[in-house]
Amino acid sequence: MIIAIDGHSACGKSTLAKDLAKELGITHIDSGAMYRAATLYFRKLNILPNDLEGIRKNLSGLEISMVPGETCAVLLNGDVVTESIRASDINDWVSDYAKIPDVRRKLVELQRSMANRGSVVMDGRDIGSVVFPNATIKFFLTADIRTRTNRRVDELRTKGIDVSFEAVKANLIRRDHIDSTREDSPLVRCDDAIVIDNSTLDRAEQQALALRYIAERIPIH
Ligand code: CDP
Repeated sequence: MIIAIDGHSACGKSTLAKDLAKELGITHIDSGAMYRAATLYFRKLNILPNDLEGIRKNLSGLEISMVPGETCAVLLNGDVVTESIRASDINDWVSDYAKIPDVRRKLVELQRSMANRGSVVMDGRDIGSVVFPNATIKFFLTADIRTRTNRRVDELRTKGIDVSFEAVKANLIRRDHIDSTREDSPLVRCDDAIVIDNSTLDRAEQQALALRYIAERIPIH
C-alpha cells in the first residue's frame, strides 16, 4: 500500500503522514527532508543553485538515508542532520535546489527504492503526480496562509528557533510559488487526489477524516 500526501508548505503533511503511519503500522517517508538534506549538502560545499555544473559534478557524493521510526532521523553522508535541515537558511534555499532536474532524478529514485521494502506513507509535492502515480490513495492537503504560518512559527519556536510571523509567511509564499511554477514536477493537485483543507481541523480530526477515506478505499482497514 502506498499513501501519497502532497500539498503546500507547512500545511501539516508530515504530521498527517506520521499519524497515519503509526495508526496503520507502516513506514513514513518525508520526501521534503531529503530535499532539505540535499540543500544542506550543497550549502556546505558553497555551490549555488545556478551552478548546474557544480551540482552535477558533486551529486554522486550526496548520500542520504532515512531512518524510519518515531523521530524519522535523516542522515547526510553518515551525519545526523534531522534538526539542522529545519534551519532558516535551508528554508530560504531549499526550493531553489529542489527545482533542479538532476537533483530531483536522484531523490525520486531513492524514494521509489524505499517503497520497495513495504507499505509506506510518503509526503511531499510530487508524490501522487510523479513518484507514485499509481499510489493506493492520494491526498492533497492545504490550509489558509495565516493558519500555516502560525503553525510553522509555533513549531520553530518550540525548537528554540526565533522567527517572525512575517518572515515565515514570506518564505511559505515564496516556496509555494517556486514549487508550483517550476518546470520539473511542479506541485499540482492530481485529479484523483482527495482534497483536505485542514484550516479548521485539529490533528485528531484530520487523522480521523483521512482514515475514513482510507477505509472506504481499502476495506481491510
Ligand atoms: O515542511 P514544509 O512543508 O515546509 O516543506 P518540506 O515538505 O520539508 O519540503 C521542503 C521543500 O522541498 C519544498 O518547499 C519543495 O521545494 C521541496 N520538495 C519537493 O520539491 N518535492 C518533494 N516531494 C518534497 C519537497
